Amino acid sequence: MAQTLLKVSGLKVAYGGIQAVKGIDFEVREGELVSLIGSNGAGKTTTMKAITGTLPYGGGDIEFLGKSIKGRGAWDLVGEGLVMVPEGRGVFTRMTITENLQIGAYIRKDKAEIAKDMDRVFATFPRLKERAMQLAGTMSGGEQQMLAMGRALMARPKVLLLDEPSMGLSPIMVDKIFEVVKQVYDQGVTVLLVEQNASRALGLADRGYVMESGLITMSGDAKVMLSDPKVRAAYLGE
Ligand SMILES: Nc1ncnc2c1ncn2[C@@H]1O[C@H](COP(=O)(O)OP(=O)(O)O)[C@@H](O)[C@H]1O
Ligand SMILES: [Mg+2]
Repeated sequence: MAQTLLKVSGLKVAYGGIQAVKGIDFEVREGELVSLIGSNGAGKTTTMKAITGTLPYGGGDIEFLGKSIKGRGAWDLVGEGLVMVPEGRGVFTRMTITENLQIGAYIRKDKAEIAKDMDRVFATFPRLKERAMQLAGTMSGGEQQMLAMGRALMARPKVLLLDEPSMGLSPIMVDKIFEVVKQVYDQGVTVLLVEQNASRALGLADRGYVMESGLITMSGDAKVMLSDPKVRAAYLGE
């Protein structure tokens, strides 16, 4: 079986007295696309922030490449290949597309390889290539999401975490973004996809987890989950 890259066990995260994540277990293996689905407020973003070292956790543990990430900084983890595209994208609006992509590779020193990756990102996202010198802030939401994904890929992720990439986009752009996620996965990148759009996210995934009020309430093979009447009734609006 493929190597486990990310292992979350008994994870608890609180904001002051409010327990947002109440003890969850899941894992992501090399080459997988895993979807973590759940409605607004379920604790998905909190989980992502704990995994990437941007929020400390109170209980349980997170292991990346077999080592606990406890107390390690976000920057350090990006360097090791744990890279997140945050909810709301977070592109640098007053910088050009090219500059945003270069920032993604900031931690690397292999100039020739960085140039190759830039070409690869432009091949995956032709839209970004056409607008290479344009300021990021002048692009549409969907284009900014592509830029945020391109920027993350420039860090050569071992695991790419995507927090609600389809949020707030038009139906056509939603299609485009899921297509691009599939393309990135087909290139061999391991992906943890967080989404409220359960049917689309499970449609792409190998395995899925459902999160509700800080707990994981269902998990399994994504295709099996998609055809499970319980899942369909609760999450796919049927
Ligand atoms: N900075 C914060 N301070 C206090 N509570 C928060 C904060 N961020 C999120 N929460 C709460 O934690 C819970 C989980 O939020 P979140 O992880 O953002 O959910 P999701 O990403 O699944 O929508 C919610 O009840 C939310 O109100
Ligand atoms: Mg969220």
